[in-house]
Amino acid sequence: MFAQNLLKDKILLVTGGRSGIGYNIAANCLRYGATVYISSRNNSKLEAAATELSELGDCRFLSCDIRNIHQVETLAEYIQKHSGKLDILVNNAGGQFPSAAEEISPNGWNAVINNNLNGTWHVTQTMAKHFFIPQTSGNIINIIANIYRGFPGMVHTGAARAGVDNLSKTLAVEWSKYGININAIAPGVIRSTGLKQYPPDLLKGVSDRIPLKRLGETQEVADLATFLMSPMATYITGETVYIDGGQRLWGDIFEL
Ligand SMILES: NC(=O)c1ccc[n+]([C@@H]2O[C@H](COP(=O)([O-])OP(=O)(O)OC[C@H]3O[C@@H](n4cnc5c(N)ncnc54)[C@H](OP(=O)(O)O)[C@@H]3O)[C@@H](O)[C@H]2O)c1
Repeated sequence: MFAQNLLKDKILLVTGGRSGIGYNIAANCLRYGATVYISSRNNSKLEAAATELSELGDCRFLSCDIRNIHQVETLAEYIQKHSGKLDILVNNAGGQFPSAAEEISPNGWNAVINNNLNGTWHVTQTMAKHFFIPQTSGNIINIIANIYRGFPGMVHTGAARAGVDNLSKTLAVEWSKYGININAIAPGVIRSTGLKQYPPDLLKGVSDRIPLKRLGETQEVADLATFLMSPMATYITGETVYIDGGQRLWGDIFEL
């Protein structure tokens, strides 16, 4: 799809890179020549993923909970020690659960905001201060969700992802003087491991209500991320690219 050496000599971090969309982004980048660090909380699953990915190229791993600022610092120091620089950050780690808004507990609300908004922020600021600002170069891609309208059934993640959408736009302006490009990818419903936590009934008939009549594939999201981090996209910053088969423009995918 892309030139074989597209990402040669690039050092990349994919949070949540042990599964699903993050795994496919890591695999793509390894195929195109990057050294890829993956991180997530579950060390044994992370190690297993890194072992598999190592067949494609130079894949390294360190467990890190993005909500824990000390672990995020340690991850930055680890990358500094082993590679001396970071070129590209993909903030992919995240998760949520479906719930009627009125039934979300304070703990449930805080868990999703902490993960999807605060965690993404910790990683972004830490990696920018360690690497991108001193280097005066960097590329950040934030995986959010389809928040084009509202997010009925998952108000917590809608709010968190809208926060990341806006911080991406703000940082694209504030950090342009440091040579940092930052964009967001907003996936619709993607056939990925993350969908397993949803009740199967919730997804019944969803494809029929998407204009392209199917769910998205993790590889399609990975190819979009690869384009955004490549030399083909150097004049794109502060953008949110929807990859949703047209879902945001028409119809209601879930029953209320
Ligand atoms: N699939 C979809 O339809 C869809 C649509 C819109 C947005 N998204 C978003 O896209 C991203 C990837 O989704 P996916 O479907 O590929 O889901 P997934 O397979 O569940 O991937 C989420 C990854 O994030 C890691 N993670 C979660 N919380 C973390 C934390 N606090 N610190 C570090 N790592 C953490 C998980 O690993 P550990 O458990 O080991 O930490 C896992 O590897 C997620 O942010 C998801 O919400 C997905």
